[in-house]
Amino acid sequence: MRMPPPRGTLSAWLAATLRRSPSPTRAAVPAPPAPGERPAAWEDEDLQLALWCCYELHYRGFEDVDEDWEWHPAVLALRGSLERRWLTSLRDLVGEHEAVPAEAVPGALRELTGQGGGPDLSGYLARKAGRDQFAEFIVHRSVYQLKEADPHSFGIPRLDGAVKAALVEIQADEYGGGRADRMHSELFRATMRWLELDDGYGRYVPSVPAVTLAVSNLMSLFALHRRWTGALLGHLAALEMTSTGPNRRYSTGARRLGAGAADRRYFDEHVEADAVHEQIAAHNMCGGYAADRPSAAADILFGAACCLALDDVLAGHLLGRWQAGQSSLRPLVDSRSAA
Ligand SMILES: [Fe+2]
Ligand SMILES: [Fe+2]
Repeated sequence: MRMPPPRGTLSAWLAATLRRSPSPTRAAVPAPPAPGERPAAWEDEDLQLALWCCYELHYRGFEDVDEDWEWHPAVLALRGSLERRWLTSLRDLVGEHEAVPAEAVPGALRELTGQGGGPDLSGYLARKAGRDQFAEFIVHRSVYQLKEADPHSFGIPRLDGAVKAALVEIQADEYGGGRADRMHSELFRATMRWLELDDGYGRYVPSVPAVTLAVSNLMSLFALHRRWTGALLGHLAALEMTSTGPNRRYSTGARRLGAGAADRRYFDEHVEADAVHEQIAAHNMCGGYAADRPSAAADILFGAACCLALDDVLAGHLLGRWQAGQSSLRPLVDSRSAA
């Protein structure tokens, strides 16, 4: 993957900076621009793209960026200023969460994830979406699903005992139990190929709007800061606890549109696996973590609430655009042309 085309001053500064050599003997990197007055962070194209690129240095990186930029102070300074804005927006979006006793954490997660009432994207995909809309949905999802489970794996070295074992049990399934062809990211690739989409990592980053990048950036924010480990676990629990119903409907929609069993396996696998994962995540993982660290309960619920809220914003974006007869994607750009 190469650096995606910039969307404003922040991502343009980052693109220009990362194309230089990070060598300390070269001229000093100019200070990053201050974010200034901006829209809510999840709608901010420039901020989300810049943040996504900063985070990506810790995952697969970019072909056209020197690996030594990963921990460069200039990049971390930009990232820090973007994250402060990002966190303020997230707090505005979901509000404060009260700490609850550890034994009440699984119930509080169930209450949060059971609230419903958001835009019914999975129902629309099951019953009405055409093949082009279903493909758009998969394009949005590909930004995270092609590195599915990777952000939450950053939590593993930060945990001990039964809580660590619970997270590893979930992650082992996500990574196919040691079989590459069963990794969830690979099952997702099969669904992409059914829709004749390019299954290359990061291929559609230039095409997706801020909110889609925000869904990924939320996980990376929690993953890359040990201080947010509770939120990372709460986020994973919310994903697992809201997975079986929607994935059943995605599978129904895919079958209606002609997908064979292998093309739908990604969805069907989640219907089965996540019925188990949600129990492990709520009780053993989040309940256990809160028992070890009672002060983390509020973070766990904050992470879960952010996950659910951004999912609703993304679903609302897709349905709103489709109802208006428009595409939910940005106009197609060839990322190589901006390199
Ligand atoms: Fe999965
Ligand atoms: Fe899962």
